Order: sequence, then C-alpha cells, then structure tokens
Amino acid sequence: MRLIGGAAIAFVLTLTCMSVSAPAQGQRLQDGQAIFRFDTFGDEQLWTDFLKMNDALETVSPATALSVGLKVDVRALPPAVIKMLKADEIDLNDPAVTLTLLKLNAVVGVMGKVNDAGELTRVGITCALCHSTVDNSLTTGIGRRLDGWPNHDLNVGAIVGLSPALPADLKAEFAKWGPGMYDPRHHAFDGMNLTGLNSPSVPVVIPPAYGLKGVGFETYTGDGPISYWNAYVGISQMGGQGTFRDPRIGLFIRDTGSRHPEVSRAVPVSTRSASTRAARGQLQSTGGAARKARVLQRWRMRELSLRIDVHRCVEGSTERPAVPARSI
Ligand code: HEC
Repeated sequence: MRLIGGAAIAFVLTLTCMSVSAPAQGQRLQDGQAIFRFDTFGDEQLWTDFLKMNDALETVSPATALSVGLKVDVRALPPAVIKMLKADEIDLNDPAVTLTLLKLNAVVGVMGKVNDAGELTRVGITCALCHSTVDNSLTTGIGRRLDGWPNHDLNVGAIVGLSPALPADLKAEFAKWGPGMYDPRHHAFDGMNLTGLNSPSVPVVIPPAYGLKGVGFETYTGDGPISYWNAYVGISQMGGQGTFRDPRIGLFIRDTGSRHPEVSRAVPVSTRSASTRAARGQLQSTGGAARKARVLQRWRMRELSLRIDVHRCVEGSTERPAVPARSI
C-alpha cells in the first residue's frame, strides 16, 4: 500500500483551478490509475484471512475463472504466452495456469502472491475487479484493460460462493445475484467479521466508474459524494484498511490493520432515535444540497478516501472512453 494523500489533495486542487505543473499532474494520473488497478488497501484480510479465497482459487482453472467473468490483461502476458494462447497450446483447464496468471499480475482486479512452492498465499481485490473489463482482443475474456468499464460478466456471488469459510445460507443468497450484479449494502466487513446490514439482498448492476466529474451523489441512493462512496466500498465491501463512519446506517469501522480493529455497530435499530431511523431510510432517497453539505461536514476524509480521490480525478474527469479498435 502506498500513501499518496498529499499528492491526491494537490491533484484535487488542480480541479479547482490551482496550478500544478503538467509533469506533476501526469504523475498523479499515473498514481490514480495504479491505485485503481492494483491497490488492495490491505483487503487481503478479507479475501485471504477471512474468506480463504486463496485456497479456493488454487483449484480453479482459467476456463472456470473466465466463465465467472474474471478477465485477463493481455498486456501483462509475455509474448511467448500470447503466442501459445493463440496456438491453443495452453491448457485452460489446468488450475496451475490460473496461478501463473496471478503471478504475472494478469488477472484484472485480483492481486495474488504465489510462493516458490506454487501455493497461493495471499489474495486481494482492487477497484478494477468490478469497474474494469477487457476488450476481448485476444479471445473472450482476454484483452486490453478498459479502466472504469463495468464488468457485466463478473459473477461476484458465484466467486465468493467458492469460499470455504461462508455458511451455506449466505452462499445461497449470493448465488442469486447473477453476472454483473452486486449488493454493496447487504453486509460490511470490519477487519475481523462480516456484519449484516440489510436483508434480503437487493443487488444492483455494477455501474461504470468514469464520467462522474461534477456529480455530487453518484450512487442510485445518493448516499454521499464520491469520496464517501469510495471509502465505504473500499473499507466495508472490499475489506480494505481505513476508517469509516456513518451514523445514518449505524456503521463505524476503525480498522488499522492490526487485526484488532476497534469496531462497533451503533445502537440497535429499534432503539435508534426517529431521526437516525429516518437517516437510515434516506438510503432510499436522493440527496439535496443541504444534505450534501451536512454529509460533507460530518465526513472527514481519511487516508483511504484521499488516496482514492486520485482515482476520482482520473476517471471522473474523463468522458466515456472510446473502445479501442479490436485486434487479435
Ligand atoms: C464488488 C464489486 C465492486 C468493487 C470491488 C467496487 N465497486 Fe464501485 N460500485 C459497485 C456497485 C454495485 C456500485 C453501484 C452502487 C449503487 O449505485 O448503489 C458501485 C458504484 C461505484 C461508483 C458510483 C458510480 C455510479 O455512477 O453510480 C463509483 C465512483 C465507484 N463504485 C468506485 C469504486 C472504487 C473507487 C472502488 C475501489 C475502491 C470500487 N468502486 C470498488 C461495485 C463495486
């Protein structure tokens, strides 16, 4: 993990017309792209320590991985491997090939560490898992990255269902999501455990993460500004380390990554004040200017959201990117 909060702030300021030199801006664009593609924010604590997805993925063939919507970045593959893929000389039913792809950092949005014995010891995810896809230039599911494009083939429910650590009823609920869908309000991870938020699950379509410059409330429920949402997702859904608090939904996570985070839920729903209950209900409403000001006032941007704000500048300031020409 890298700390580039200062760079992020400076970059946000450039959007408000303060001058930053072009090379510095270019550097920050690169930082934003790298964070979006490769930063797990320490979420291996969810995907490895808690879900044990490293054990599950060791038995998954590339063919299966592609069938649940995982994508392979062709630019991360050495020319020899590309040649063999084209010649059909790679056994896509061999789980060892999946590990090789992870070792090459070629699986979009999945960061894995493979040891010398060929075991997948750590695995985590990045924003790109859901918000990037590929142009299929080599074959279906293998091509050049399209940052910010939603992956509508990705079956998060099926993937998480492979975890040996989840109870059957939860897996059954996730299995209903289907490709391109995710429910970011069903549960939260606090650094140690999954906490239930809303049930039954109401999955939504994974949206694009570009073209949001100037958009105040981008999620369909208008929960808060982009920095709010990114911190929410990064900490409570991806399982990254950081601090998140929102009294409206009674979620307080302070996760320093020490495996002993100070975590608490707010008072139980039934004893919440009427206004807090209403605030919880606001998850259904869209935000007005006054509410936006209130949320901004309450929400002090922490390390994670500052770092992710680089991404906001990168992706948010661009128009819908053109689809690169398809070529094999
Ligand atoms: C597991 C899949 C998943 C991951 C990983 C993920 N997101 Fe999302 N993201 C979603 C879904 C689903 C929504 C739609 C939420 C809604 O509107 O209620 C969303 C919404 C968004 C939006 C608002 C887009 C819009 O137009 O509504 C932004 C911006 C965003 N995510 C950025 C990020 C960033 C930055 C990260 C990494 C820190 C990230 N997301 C990680 C699934 C994901």
